[in-house]
Amino acid sequence: MVQNIDWSKLGFHYTETEFIVRAACHDGRWEEPYATTDKYLQLHVSATALQYGQEAFEGLKAFRGIDGKIRIFRWRDNARRMAKSAEGLYMTPVPEELFGKAIRMAIEKNIDFVPPYGTGATLYLRPLLIGTTPRLGVGPGHDFEFIVIASPIGPYYPGKFHCTTFIVNRHVDRAAPYGTGQFKVGGNYASSFRATESAHALGYDCIFLDAQHHKYIDECSAANFIGIKTNGQQPTANSQIEYLTPKSSAILPSITNDSLMTLAKERGYKVTRRHIRLEELADMQEAAACGTACVISPIDKVLDPERDRTYHICDQPGPVLSELYHALRDIQFGRAEDKHLWTEVFTPSV
Ligand code: PLP
Ligand code: COI
Repeated sequence: MVQNIDWSKLGFHYTETEFIVRAACHDGRWEEPYATTDKYLQLHVSATALQYGQEAFEGLKAFRGIDGKIRIFRWRDNARRMAKSAEGLYMTPVPEELFGKAIRMAIEKNIDFVPPYGTGATLYLRPLLIGTTPRLGVGPGHDFEFIVIASPIGPYYPGKFHCTTFIVNRHVDRAAPYGTGQFKVGGNYASSFRATESAHALGYDCIFLDAQHHKYIDECSAANFIGIKTNGQQPTANSQIEYLTPKSSAILPSITNDSLMTLAKERGYKVTRRHIRLEELADMQEAAACGTACVISPIDKVLDPERDRTYHICDQPGPVLSELYHALRDIQFGRAEDKHLWTEVFTPSV
């Protein structure tokens, strides 16, 4: 099976691997994780995950580097974020060490599915936490299952690093202030499908505004927003360059965005997290969506059909975000020094 994979042709789709890793929790006690080839769960029809959406997930990658080593990117941050999502939905958090053990086991058991260096493809890891207690009365359960799925995924930009167009939708909100938008839970994605699918039908992606005022930028589809104001400077004349990203209680704290902010600060850019009015797009020289899947997805235009307005940002990916994109990819693929200790080199257990 593995021999048949054309790594450079994979997209962001599930390719079945050999094993998943599972661990159960009953009444606050986690059991040891184990690997299984069975991809189906025996789940009670009244499980709280199915009835009341008591579930959370994560997404991270393992990279085959230039030196042949496999590097897992910032998994502890994913483990901590999943613990916050668990608490947000009244679930028992997965202990960090158990999370790490399950991730490593998922890589080891599917090692032949880690794409070779040079193809741009990576092994995507999808930890999932679901409530398994059967109940019909509204309320949280006390049994959970933690699962790690692994799948090789293709390079986000198989051709050239390119731009995407976004469209504003004021008729569908992704998440309310102080609601579940700050957690990585399935309900946020299901609630955004009406907006994202209607944007896709027009050939665009969807930008979400804050649900209270429909005034500030919240998220770009399933990614954080970044805006760059260069004030006419080159990326080497750094102090004038501003990296802007939204402050909102309804957005997911992106680990990619956090990494890019660190790299931006290192370059002397001013990094600002604040409310960003949609109209401010007119003063931005570069903008992008950022997340694990794409790292950075530059935005050329944002359409606001209701206000009959188009924000033209740039025709090509701009120099500031292109440089940050390559800098982060270089760390992930082991081509640049990992000063921040973001990667863990995977070592097989035997
Ligand atoms: N925002 C949402 C809603 C997401 O689903 C993701 C992806 O995980 C992100 C932002 C980016 O987060 P990260 O960089 O940790 O992948
Ligand atoms: C990302 O990893 O960047 C995402 O947008 C997550 C999505 C695939 C659920």
